[in-house]
Amino acid sequence: MCGIVGAVAQRNIAEILIEGLRRLEYRGYDSAGLAVISDFKISRLRRVGKVSELQKAIEENPIDGSIGIAHTRWATHGEPNETNAHPHFSNDTIAVVHNGIIENYESLREELKLQGYVFTSDTDTEVMAHLIERERKSSDSLLSAVLKATKLLKGAYGTVVMELANPDCLVVARSGSPLVLGKGIGEMFIASDQLALLPVTRQFMFLEEGEVAEVTRRDVKILAPDGSVVEREFEETTVQHDAGDKGKFRHFMMKEIYEQPDSINSTLEGRLAQDSVIIESFGNRAPELLDKVEFVQIIACGTSYHSAMVAKYWIESMVGIPCQVEIASEYRYRKTVVCKNSLFISISQSGETADTLAALRIAKEQGFLASLTICNVPGSSLVRESDMAFMTRAGAEIGVASTKAFTTQLTGLLMLAVALAQTKKSLPQEEISNIIQELRTLPNDIKHALEMDTTIETMAEEFNEKEHCLFLGRGEQYPIAMEGALKLKEISYIHAEGYPAAEMKHGPIALIDENMPIVVIATKKGHYEKVVSNIQEIKSRKGKIIGIVTEGDKDVRELADHVIEVPETIESLTPLLTTIPLQLLSYHIAVLLGKNVDQPRNLAKSVTVE
Ligand code: M6R
Repeated sequence: MCGIVGAVAQRNIAEILIEGLRRLEYRGYDSAGLAVISDFKISRLRRVGKVSELQKAIEENPIDGSIGIAHTRWATHGEPNETNAHPHFSNDTIAVVHNGIIENYESLREELKLQGYVFTSDTDTEVMAHLIERERKSSDSLLSAVLKATKLLKGAYGTVVMELANPDCLVVARSGSPLVLGKGIGEMFIASDQLALLPVTRQFMFLEEGEVAEVTRRDVKILAPDGSVVEREFEETTVQHDAGDKGKFRHFMMKEIYEQPDSINSTLEGRLAQDSVIIESFGNRAPELLDKVEFVQIIACGTSYHSAMVAKYWIESMVGIPCQVEIASEYRYRKTVVCKNSLFISISQSGETADTLAALRIAKEQGFLASLTICNVPGSSLVRESDMAFMTRAGAEIGVASTKAFTTQLTGLLMLAVALAQTKKSLPQEEISNIIQELRTLPNDIKHALEMDTTIETMAEEFNEKEHCLFLGRGEQYPIAMEGALKLKEISYIHAEGYPAAEMKHGPIALIDENMPIVVIATKKGHYEKVVSNIQEIKSRKGKIIGIVTEGDKDVRELADHVIEVPETIESLTPLLTTIPLQLLSYHIAVLLGKNVDQPRNLAKSVTVE
C-alpha cells in the first residue's frame, strides 16, 4: 500500500527520499513522486511505475533541497497516472503526501470548488492540500492549520505537509494510517514504516491516533486531538538494519521461506520452560487472564485468517473451550454477541491492517475480558492498542506473500493453546511435554522439509499451462490447503481454491479432469484413510494428484502423480510442516511463469485502507 518518506535536514535529501521509497517498494504501489523546497519554490517530480523511473527522472532533472516529502501511490481514487501521483499541491505553496482514504472527499471537493479551488487530479488527497491551504489563511501556523483541517476529514490518513513559506518544518498527522518519526543529528525524518529510515537513523517515535506534529531539524512538537501538547521520547529500534536485503536469494519470498527455521527459533526463544510454555510470554497479566477465559474470538485477514482457522482446531481440541474465528472486515460490520469471559485475539503480520485494527477498536467497546494480538511488528497499532501482545519475531517480511510470518503465527498460536491447556489443566502433562519436545525440534524439521526444494522446482514445470488448481486437506490441514491456494493465486495468478477434502464431492469434483492439478495434503496423522479415499475419487476422474505426505508413505505414492514428503511429527505440528512445500510450489510456479514474485500486481504488503 502507499508509502511515505519525509526529511528536514541540512544536506540534500533527494537521495534519502529515494532510498526510503525503494525500501518501501515491497508494500506495493503503482506510481512514485517527490517534492523538495529549493530556490524559493517547491519542485516536484512524479512518475508512473517503479521508483527506479523516478530516480532516472531525477538524474535527468537534478533536484536538490534540504526539506522534502516523497510517496509511493497505490491507486484508490483515480487511475495510476502522473497527475494522480503524490505529492499534491495547493496554489504551489502547500504540498501534501497522504496514505489512506478520505471518505467525505466529494462533499469537501464541491465546497472547495465553490470557493475557487481548482483541482488537477482525481484524488482525495488533493482535497486535503486545498483544505489545509484554506485553513492556513486563518491560522498563525501550519501546525494549527493542519489540526483544523484534519477535524473536517472523515476517513483514514497518515499525511505529511510541506509549506513553501516555512522551509524549516514539516507537519504530520495520523488517523488510521501509521507514521513514524526518526531522529538524526540535527535532522529529522518521517516515514510510514521505520524500515524506510534504517539507513539514516535507529531512533524512532510513533505518532498515535489523532495526533498532529510539527517536525523541525532538532525538535518535534506533538499535539493531541484536543490541542494539548504531548511529551514523548525517541527510542532505539530493535529492527535489523539489513532487513531490506535479499542476500544470496533471487527474491525476498525465497529468502523468507528459508528463514523459517530461524524465525521459529526466535519465536520460541525464552518462552519454553522444561515441560511447559511460559505463560507470561503472552503478557504479565496472562496467567490471571487466561485462567478466566471461557471463550475465544479470533479475527484476522488473508493469511493471518488461515492461521486463526488452524488455532480453532487446536484450542477446541486441547482446551475444550469454544473458539470462533472470523474475517475482520465481516466482524467489524455486523452485530455480534460477546460471551462472558471472552478473550479477543487479533492476528496480523503488519499490525496495521485497517479492518483488523477497526475490529479490535470495536471489540474494546464490547466487554471482552481482554484483547491479545499475535503480531510481527513491534510498536504497530495493534500492539499498542491491545491489552497483551505476543510478538512473532519473524523479522521484517518484505515479500508481499506472507510466509515466515504465517509459520511464526502458527507457532505462537500453538503455544497459546498449550498455555491455555496448562492453565485449565485440560491436557495430561505427558501430552504437554510431548508438544514442547516436538516444538523444540520444529526448526530442524522445517530445515528438513526445505530439502524438497529442488524436487518441487522440477514439479512446478507441470503447471506451465494450467489455469486452475485445487488444494484439499482435512481437519487442521484444511486451512493449510486454503493458505496453499492463496499463495498460488497471489503470486502466479493461477486460479486456485482450498477445500476440505470431503467437501469436494459437493461441487468441486465437477471440475476434475486430466487438466486439473489437485494438491492433496495426506499426512499420516489425522484422517489419513479418509483422505486416501478422496484421492481415489480424484484418480478415477483422471485428476493430476500431487500428494503432500509423511516421509515413508506408500499408499498415496501409489495413487499420486507426484509426492512431496515432510518429516513425521505429532498431529498438532504437522500444519507447520505441510505449509513449507506449498510455499515452495507456488514460488517456483510463479518464477517459471515470469511473475513479479515479491510485488504481485494489485497487492499491497500492509492493507491500511478498507
Ligand atoms: O498484515 P496482516 O497479517 O494483517 O495482513 C493480512 C493480509 O493482508 C495478508 O495476510 C495477505 O493476505 C498476504 N498478502 C498473504 O500472503
